[in-house]
Amino acid sequence: MLEHKSIRKFTDESPSDEVIKTIVRAGQQAPFASQYYSVLLSRNKKHNPWKAPLLFTICIDSHKFELIMARRNWKLTTNDLTLLIFGIQDAALMAENMVVAGRSLGLGSCFLGSALYRADKIAEEYSLPERVFPLVQLAMGYPAEDPHTRPRYPLEFTLFEDKYPELSQKVISKAMKQMDEGYLAQDYYIKARYKIPLEGNRKETFTYDNYSWTEHICRKWGQWYPDPKELLKLFEKRGFHLTRKRKTMQGKD
Ligand SMILES: Cc1cc2nc3c(=O)[nH]c(=O)nc-3n(C[C@H](O)[C@H](O)[C@H](O)COP(=O)(O)O)c2cc1C
Repeated sequence: MLEHKSIRKFTDESPSDEVIKTIVRAGQQAPFASQYYSVLLSRNKKHNPWKAPLLFTICIDSHKFELIMARRNWKLTTNDLTLLIFGIQDAALMAENMVVAGRSLGLGSCFLGSALYRADKIAEEYSLPERVFPLVQLAMGYPAEDPHTRPRYPLEFTLFEDKYPELSQKVISKAMKQMDEGYLAQDYYIKARYKIPLEGNRKETFTYDNYSWTEHICRKWGQWYPDPKELLKLFEKRGFHLTRKRKTMQGKD
């Protein structure tokens, strides 16, 4: 686990059904609040991102849970925001178990966060019923690259025993330096040839000599998706109502 690295280049070898089943079974065995997920699989190599032999789409799934409730003559009362937060935890734990299981069988993988904003398209592609929401995708296959392991924050910026400390400028600088120098040493952004463009009238002052992770992540969360409406709409379209009580369930009240 300490050597984990995302893989974005794959050989042509297709993992066997046995390998796929083992990976998903290992995913299922993750701790859960209510197994509020389903996993979709595409082996359409040509169409999959990075031409990956496998593309898993991990979904929040209320639909199949509600079928169980209906069988027991119960109606879902819990609000969708609560269900979603627990569902995200279930799905994320499952997905990471799949990453680790895949690795132990010689496979590499990489998540794709864009699924969230492509929920409509994915729903159509896989004929998803209402109340199934694609959360994240996981491309997987046998690795055809061996990138560096990416840096992480120092432990002292992550683990706080007994009391959340006041974070001194020195500790913040150390954390930023560890990330930025780590990425620069790997020539990460120069190889990717990608800087997030500055919006508005901000002027670019960074070159690939000093553009690194902390600037990158600031540009992301300092500019993108200011309005939650777009995402809320996507959830609404899939039948999840995050700002109000659900009126009806499966056509009944
Ligand atoms: C929720 C989530 C979404 C991600 N989305 C993408 C993505 O769209 N494209 C990509 O290349 N990597 C994506 N990643 C992979 C991260 O970029 C990667 O895990 C991170 O840079 C750390 O690198 P490492 O996994 O090699 O340690 C995603 C990871 C997560 C957990």
